[in-house]
Amino acid sequence: MKKVILKDSKYEIKKGRVVSVRQMTDMEKLFEIALPGNRSLDHEPGQFVEMSLFGVGEAPISVSSSPTKRGSFEMCVRKVGKFTNALHNLKAGDEIGVRGPFGKGFPVKLLEGNDLLFVAGGLGIVPLRSLINFVIDNRRDFGKVNILLGCKTPDDMLFGDEVENWQKRIDVSFNCTVDRSDPDWKGNVGLITSLIPGVTLAPNRTFAVVVGPPIMYKFVIGELLTKKIPSRQILVSLERHMKCGLGKCGHCQIQNYYCCQDGPVFSYDKIKNIKEAI
Ligand SMILES: Cc1cc2nc3c(=O)[nH]c(=O)nc-3n(C[C@H](O)[C@H](O)[C@H](O)COP(=O)(O)OP(=O)(O)OC[C@H]3O[C@@H](n4cnc5c(N)ncnc54)[C@H](O)[C@@H]3O)c2cc1C
Ligand code: FES
Repeated sequence: MKKVILKDSKYEIKKGRVVSVRQMTDMEKLFEIALPGNRSLDHEPGQFVEMSLFGVGEAPISVSSSPTKRGSFEMCVRKVGKFTNALHNLKAGDEIGVRGPFGKGFPVKLLEGNDLLFVAGGLGIVPLRSLINFVIDNRRDFGKVNILLGCKTPDDMLFGDEVENWQKRIDVSFNCTVDRSDPDWKGNVGLITSLIPGVTLAPNRTFAVVVGPPIMYKFVIGELLTKKIPSRQILVSLERHMKCGLGKCGHCQIQNYYCCQDGPVFSYDKIKNIKEAI
């Protein structure tokens, strides 16, 4: 029988190698992964990959580095169960399976020339960092950039060094809040929604990009609509239980959308009438 070879197909697992592992918080590690021949992943900001470990399983993980970083990519993983625990045991040099990149990322061309308001809650900064760093590396192609970041406590903040650099830039406005402070915290205390009324923006030329835990979306979008940002200019990245990443299994279905293929990034006007989407 003739052997069918699926060359570079979406089913093919590429053998990646762990370049480095950095502990970020008690629960999260940042992994740098290289593909054979240091080939770039060629992803769009906001896309995800299916990572696999032989004998353990597979899980969707967002690419956290910008496509402007060549030769390797990064992902930040929270330890929550069997697969992510096994991932946290990996060391530099270990092998890891990579399928993808998958899904629709942020529409970078559409964003060009416009002002951007990034709203990241908790682990939402992981996929959003890919777009933020892409915008910073191509800063002249975009208008005003405003970053709002929220986390539970100061100890939960991810990418601390990078966040400090964003804070120092004169071409980026940055504000950060925590739900619960500690004695060293000098910033805002309160939910991320509390930062939005203080932002000055021109609604017609502003795209808001929102990524965070499911509970956050309804309240953040409410504030953005109060600011008169049109719903087609509000972009959200939705997380759903995914298996295949290929539009085959139906695990990620939201009515007639498959989150893995039609998302994870959606404009709010597309999903605002679907009750279970947000
Ligand atoms: C598009 C997408 C991007 C993601 N990006 C990241 C990322 O950058 N970093 C990161 O740490 N995690 C990310 N996740 C979540 C990650 O896929 C799950 O945490 C992982 O599958 C859990 O596997 P586990 O075996 O360790 O845990 P399990 O024991 O299977 O589950 C532990 C917890 O995770 C939830 N969970 C399990 N599978 C999924 C799934 N496929 N999608 C969502 N939640 C799930 C369960 O409901 C449970 O609450 C992403 C998920 C999606 C869909
Ligand atoms: S993950 Fe299988 S259809 Fe989307």
